[in-house]
Amino acid sequence: MTDETAARVATLPAPPPAAAALFGAAMPTIGRYAGILAAAGVERGLIGPREVPRLWDRHLMNCAAVAELIPSGAHVVDVGSGAGLPGVVLAIARPDLRVSLVEPLLRRTVFLAETVEALGLRNVEVLRNRAEDWAGRLAADVVTARAVAPLERLVGWCLPLVRPGGMMLALKGESAAAELAQVADSLRGQGAAHWDVVEVGAVLGDAATRIVRIELGRQGFVPPRKTARGKRR
Ligand SMILES: C[S@@+](CC[C@H](N)C(=O)[O-])C[C@H]1O[C@@H](n2cnc3c(N)ncnc32)[C@H](O)[C@@H]1O
Repeated sequence: MTDETAARVATLPAPPPAAAALFGAAMPTIGRYAGILAAAGVERGLIGPREVPRLWDRHLMNCAAVAELIPSGAHVVDVGSGAGLPGVVLAIARPDLRVSLVEPLLRRTVFLAETVEALGLRNVEVLRNRAEDWAGRLAADVVTARAVAPLERLVGWCLPLVRPGGMMLALKGESAAAELAQVADSLRGQGAAHWDVVEVGAVLGDAATRIVRIELGRQGFVPPRKTARGKRR
């Protein structure tokens, strides 16, 4: 480890007390993941150096809070996983889940595969490619996405990966209600039965966040019809 990396890793704070409630027996593993993000994650450009002092509340705990919306034993597809947020965090916090990390950039999938191996996570697979390329090939109980795209685009990428009766969860924070309002009119036509904004992790203070939840009906995703000019609507 270079002196610069060691100095940066030293800015990683101790886990806040609330982390133990979220991660329980997985505290040692999430601690090792925090160390990987602070060292290799920054060196390889997957997260910014200024994120290290706020890794616990802004990233790890914020992502783990989403677990409260995910049913036991679910297959979760995390679209645009980047350095593994929220997918790796969910896999650590919830060993009952099966998690597929979808990420198009080779550099990031190599980091993800190495991280999964280093942490000994047996419930995670790394899938290279864009979310759009997996339509018709994945049918997850839950599809998650954080900081990937505006909701309008995200709906088109994520809903085709959700099984009938399953849901997508977009971690959106402050913009959740406004983004949902922009797409709400189009959702029923795409097979959605219910949608709302849910606040998770309220007891975590700064780590609380807002999620757009969109649940598909029993008939599943309905692809938008093509217009006469071939455009989708
Ligand atoms: C800003 S990063 C966010 C990463 C991570 N979710 C987080 O919260 O830190 C956006 C990620 O989405 C990925 N991405 C962009 N377009 C995508 C697509 N069409 N399908 C899947 N992932 C995509 C990028 O490669 C990048 O890793």
